[in-house]
Amino acid sequence: MKISKVLSLSILAVSLWACGGGQQNTESTSSETSTVAESAAAPAAEEPKGKQLIAQSDCLGCHKEQQKLVGPSYADVAAKYEATPENITMLAGKIINGGQGNWGEVPMSAHPQISQADAEEMVKYILTIKK
Ligand code: HEC
Repeated sequence: MKISKVLSLSILAVSLWACGGGQQNTESTSSETSTVAESAAAPAAEEPKGKQLIAQSDCLGCHKEQQKLVGPSYADVAAKYEATPENITMLAGKIINGGQGNWGEVPMSAHPQISQADAEEMVKYILTIKK
């Protein structure tokens, strides 16, 4: 009886110590505010439809917005073509049928499953991307 009471008291003491002690609040007050350089180029709050369609397809495996990957960066494409209806139709056709020879010898794969309307949405978004 007596021993078990002592025992349980000491267990209580240990567990209290374990909870209360040893906890040092190391306050991290260093707030690293990274300057968002591209905020000026950021599109409006809503994600444009073309951007969503691009994210859903395989485009990002070969294209980045600002860096050349397998294909040209979208910013380079936007710098090369004006956003005229003719260019939008023409580039949408390239997405669907594939293309080669405008940026190098590596061809772009065809995307026959993408509709003309969706491809045009993608192009419209691509042509808004600024360097
Ligand atoms: C397998 C890699 C690959 C994939 C996947 C890919 N591209 Fe491309 N893309 C390329 C290459 C390579 C070129 C350059 C072709 C050329 O030189 O004419 C290119 C060119 C382009 C161009 C410019 C065409 C021109 O004639 O100037 C656009 C716009 C484009 N891609 C959009 C897309 C979109 C949108 C998707 C997704 C639906 C996509 N690409 C998927 C590799 C790819």
